[in-house]
Amino acid sequence: MRKIKEAIKEAADESKAVIEAASSKAKSSRVKLLEELDAKIRVCTACPLHKSRTLAVPGEGKYNAKVMIIGEAPGRNEDLTGRPFVGSSGKFLDHVLDGSGFDRTDFFITNICKCRPPSNRTPKTHEIETCTSLYLFNQISLINPGLIVLLGGVAVKRMLGLKTVEQARGRIIEHEGQKFLATYHPAVRFYREDLAEKIKEDFDILKAEMKNL
Ligand code: URA
Repeated sequence: MRKIKEAIKEAADESKAVIEAASSKAKSSRVKLLEELDAKIRVCTACPLHKSRTLAVPGEGKYNAKVMIIGEAPGRNEDLTGRPFVGSSGKFLDHVLDGSGFDRTDFFITNICKCRPPSNRTPKTHEIETCTSLYLFNQISLINPGLIVLLGGVAVKRMLGLKTVEQARGRIIEHEGQKFLATYHPAVRFYREDLAEKIKEDFDILKAEMKNL
């Protein structure tokens, strides 16, 4: 009797080891693919934005984040550092995250376009199409987040096909099998204090939703 029990335990230990090895292999191939994408983004010349950029900004954070945050495109500080949301909009984003009990390292943060448009103009349709189809959609499929937070009209339009943030914000949206939460771009804080308050309200919705992810 004892021998059978021991054999079962041995088999269970063996399968556990096989499962652990397989899942760590799967995990490392995801990390590898995300790092490869990151490297491709940094040298990308697929659209005209590469001509005026200093550094491309692939995004940063947890490769297995439950939540991805997607903004519009890098600004001046992001272009200089190669990191997303590190300028004045980023400071406000950090403040909102902090107020909801989050830290930016809980997420994967990126943008619709990975290179700064000249003078921070809105990215053009072909720049958006090129960058999302080459990079963002791949990042989403590899990270496989439970929910995507969209910051601003450019992200809302590209990901949900809606014209305005107002049409989408204030609730969790299911679109093509993916959960989204849309809100205003943190830059609104500089000209619309009322909308900045709404960003905070929307991040409270994220906080409540976290337990379902
Ligand atoms: N605005 C964005 O949309 N993204 C950044 O990374 C910085 C500012």
